[in-house]
Amino acid sequence: MSVTIETITGERLLSVVPDLARLRITVFREWPYLYDGNLAYEEDYLHAYMQSPETAVVVAKDSDRVVGASTCLPLKDEMACIRAPFEERGLSASDFFYFGESVLLESYRGQGIGVRFFEERERHARSASQASFAVFCAVRRWKTDPRRPDDAHSLADFWGKRGFSPLPGLFCHMSWKEPGIPGQRDHLLDFHIKPLRGDPIPEALLHNNQDED
Ligand SMILES: CC(C)(COP(=O)(O)OP(=O)(O)OC[C@H]1O[C@@H](n2cnc3c(N)ncnc32)[C@H](O)[C@@H]1OP(=O)(O)O)[C@@H](O)C(=O)NCCC(=O)NCCS
Repeated sequence: MSVTIETITGERLLSVVPDLARLRITVFREWPYLYDGNLAYEEDYLHAYMQSPETAVVVAKDSDRVVGASTCLPLKDEMACIRAPFEERGLSASDFFYFGESVLLESYRGQGIGVRFFEERERHARSASQASFAVFCAVRRWKTDPRRPDDAHSLADFWGKRGFSPLPGLFCHMSWKEPGIPGQRDHLLDFHIKPLRGDPIPEALLHNNQDED
């Protein structure tokens, strides 16, 4: 199996929207995201995401088939709910580059593609911006959640090896529909951070109250 990796920017971004939408719906339907997505909403949401001139999507292809993708853009161009924890602490969103989803079909995992997604996004963030830090957030699930599969494993070690540290107590809220449950549910997503240019992590992001609001 020979998979190629390419970072897509600029006008070509719109061409990856259908594949990215399909991958998000397929991969995020599984634990831990449990996202019941639909194509029409996804395409609208992703078109908005592609408006930032510094957005990049790293695409993994097996021949002509897109089997995985990973996104990033300046935090200042992200949704207000993702910017909020930084802006509320008096920080400039321009200091941060936001790493969005990584979605890879299951049969392609464990062969280094996820590592490349991080490497390529970091390369892009360093060249397309002056941002000092990369940040991303990941859904928080309770240990007691009965939907947790027996073989579920945490990505904490994987992210740690990519140089990211958790920011305990720094989280945002996002709502989405879960399979089999009517309406949208509020979810908490916890932030992780990596310095891109050697700067210390801002004090304002440390020592948070770890309770929910
Ligand atoms: C997160 C995700 C993208 C990771 O992708 P992946 O391709 O399986 O990850 P990798 O294979 O690159 O890395 C997994 C491990 O295999 C290792 N590995 C295996 N083969 C490798 C190779 N040929 N080259 C480099 N690393 C390799 C990696 O080093 C890594 O181990 P480490 O963390 O100890 O260094 C994938 O699991 C996924 O899509 N998950 C579901 C969606 C999700 O939860 N996304 C994250 C939040 S948006």
